[in-house]
Amino acid sequence: MGMEDSQYFEKPIIDVIKSRHSVRTYKYEKLSEEIKRKLINYSKKIESPFDAKVRLELIDELKIAEKGNVKIGTYGIIKGTSSYITGALEKGDNSLEMLGYCLEKLVLYGTSLGLGTCWLGGTFKRSQFSKMIDLKENELLPIVIPIGYEADKKSLVEAIMRRGAGSDNRKTWNELFYNGNFETSLDEKSAGSYSLALEMVRLAPSASNKQPWRILKQDNYYHFYMEATKGYGKALGFNIQKIDMGIAMCHFEMTLVEAGIEGHWEYEYYRQFSVSDENIEYIASWLEGASHMRL
Ligand SMILES: Cc1cc2nc3c(=O)[nH]c(=O)nc-3n(C[C@H](O)[C@H](O)[C@H](O)COP(=O)(O)O)c2cc1C
Repeated sequence: MGMEDSQYFEKPIIDVIKSRHSVRTYKYEKLSEEIKRKLINYSKKIESPFDAKVRLELIDELKIAEKGNVKIGTYGIIKGTSSYITGALEKGDNSLEMLGYCLEKLVLYGTSLGLGTCWLGGTFKRSQFSKMIDLKENELLPIVIPIGYEADKKSLVEAIMRRGAGSDNRKTWNELFYNGNFETSLDEKSAGSYSLALEMVRLAPSASNKQPWRILKQDNYYHFYMEATKGYGKALGFNIQKIDMGIAMCHFEMTLVEAGIEGHWEYEYYRQFSVSDENIEYIASWLEGASHMRL
């Protein structure tokens, strides 16, 4: 788990989470070798609570040239950078949550280094990027993330994207967090020492800013559920909102770890915690307290 993150992050995680925002317009400036080395080193250290396999790669102008200048495109959404992080995964249980969790760690690390990023699940040419990283038959490439230095001014396309997704707004606490059952909302006071970690979940990025996270506190458990947005992302062929769930888990855990609050993830009790509402899917639970056993 994330104790070792403190060696890498030079800023409090809360400040990093608050300053992260999607960047679609970059300066035409290459990443320095030192920054690239830092990103690669950190990416190798990332561990996740799920045992699925994810392959993170950094694509830069050198790699693009090496591949015979394969064109990589984002439908004009991303401007200025030629550096991308890709996350390929082997298909399997929890692999999308895992991808969200691992890639968000890298996004936050990049943010702490002063870099801009933007999660892309839809608006990139999947076949071109797949070629770039020699995607294997048993692998999926759900996400690529441009990374670079934020330009001083947003492109018009970017301004339109932000407005379209309502990116500056988040759902309120009583739409996201519940106490005991889904009829009772959890307020900041009852969340006590967990309120900051929940607030950091609330600020997380999500596909089209749909914010599918629903967290139910029961005794010393925090159960993470996904409220699927009906019909959303059907054409993608994978459930992009599961990636959002992994991102939320990353924010929650990193905030707690930094605050010295102990706990661990459990995700094997699917039947026990699933609910009858067909739009709400159980994902994982955080159990507070020192962990005696690792799953
Ligand atoms: C899994 C995921 C997929 C996303 N896919 C895209 C995308 O294809 N194109 C895009 O421009 N933004 C994409 N976004 C960015 C979201 O629209 C953005 O995170 C959200 O509106 C909140 O804004 P913020 O990141 O500035 O806080 C994606 C975000 C996530 C988490």
